[in-house]
Amino acid sequence: MMKKDMKWAMNHLPKSDDKNLPIMSLNEISKARTFHQSFPQYSETPLTQLTQMARYLGLGSIFVKDESYRFGLNAFKVLGGSYSMAKYIAKETHRDVSDLPYEVLTSDKLRQEFGQATFFTATDGNHGRGVAWAAQKLGQKAVVHMPKGTTQTRLENIKKLGADVDILDLNYDDCVRQAAKEAAATPHGVMVQDTAWDGYEEIPSWIMQGYGTMAMEAGEQLKAQGVERPTHIFVQAGVGSLAGAVVGYFANLYKDNPPKFIVVEASAAACLYKGAAAGDGKPRIVGGDLDTIMAGLACGEPNTISWDILKNHVTTFVAADDPITVRGMRMLAAPLKGDAPIVSGESGAVPFGTLATIMLSDECKDIRAELGLDDRSQVLVFSTEGDTDPERYKNIVWRGLNK
Ligand SMILES: Cc1ncc(COP(=O)(O)O)c(C=O)c1O
Repeated sequence: MMKKDMKWAMNHLPKSDDKNLPIMSLNEISKARTFHQSFPQYSETPLTQLTQMARYLGLGSIFVKDESYRFGLNAFKVLGGSYSMAKYIAKETHRDVSDLPYEVLTSDKLRQEFGQATFFTATDGNHGRGVAWAAQKLGQKAVVHMPKGTTQTRLENIKKLGADVDILDLNYDDCVRQAAKEAAATPHGVMVQDTAWDGYEEIPSWIMQGYGTMAMEAGEQLKAQGVERPTHIFVQAGVGSLAGAVVGYFANLYKDNPPKFIVVEASAAACLYKGAAAGDGKPRIVGGDLDTIMAGLACGEPNTISWDILKNHVTTFVAADDPITVRGMRMLAAPLKGDAPIVSGESGAVPFGTLATIMLSDECKDIRAELGLDDRSQVLVFSTEGDTDPERYKNIVWRGLNK
């Protein structure tokens, strides 16, 4: 089904044996959370309630998990890079990750024992920045490749953290292949990529567990604010690692009565939506330049581990055009009087932009009814980044431009 700038597919995919759901078990995620808590830079990111906005949109309540505050890096991604590096070092040194909190990982003793690895990755910006940050903190090396179309600001942010970084004349998925090739050819080279494919699943599953910290915080914060269980959760997807992590964690947490999960992609790179629309259960791939302002969502090849989780638990897959996220960015930056503003970047704001569009547009009556979104709904929305590209953010929010 569709309106001009948004398409959606209800999930009628055949179900599997759900073998990947335990990756996001409460026990595993509590380990990841404890690991992140050991960082001196750690603090929980805010869960902001938009009371006036909820009333305006005809919803019971809206809560936005604001990842612009994560470790001073303006995006959630570092949770995955840092945790996967810790899990890798734990495996190599025959320890459990619980025995490797920040102060042990950064100790001279451990560095002597483990030595120095070079962590390779490809990124639109946020994941590479997280990997570079964690490598710097843990005394490791990082090599980062970025796809064409990435801005210089994003590259500089990674360079500042001491990584070896460049922009290649390739799209995101081809940068991933290049980084994997180099990692394989480098002594003590480790590919730390935020997506999985057949034969490359261990590190991405750790990355997803790292993202679980954010979901666990949100669940606890909701409870502290009097919400036992949200009725709807909106989360964005590029390759779908984040969505698989969020959906997987909450499917485990609210096992008997899961919320409705709505996964939103950029239309230009809507591989999950295409898979859902095709309906046979097989993943779909989108190639080409993947032209969208949602840089973090410009990925055309789904994470194979996540795809299985999403197939089993998602309610609706949405493909949104750029104007939907632009609306989300502006509404979050200037909400109604009484609500706190939220700085949400192009990849951050599309779940909220989608929610607002569903509630406000006549063309969305069907999906609104199908999802049961009304004044009893308690909606959790993820804003995964702040103004990671500050010039573009100002162009859109202050200068009224579209990119
Ligand atoms: C800010 C932001 N949000 C969401 C995503 C999507 O995550 P995933 O690729 O795991 O679907 C990304 C990916 O880079 C991102 O940078």
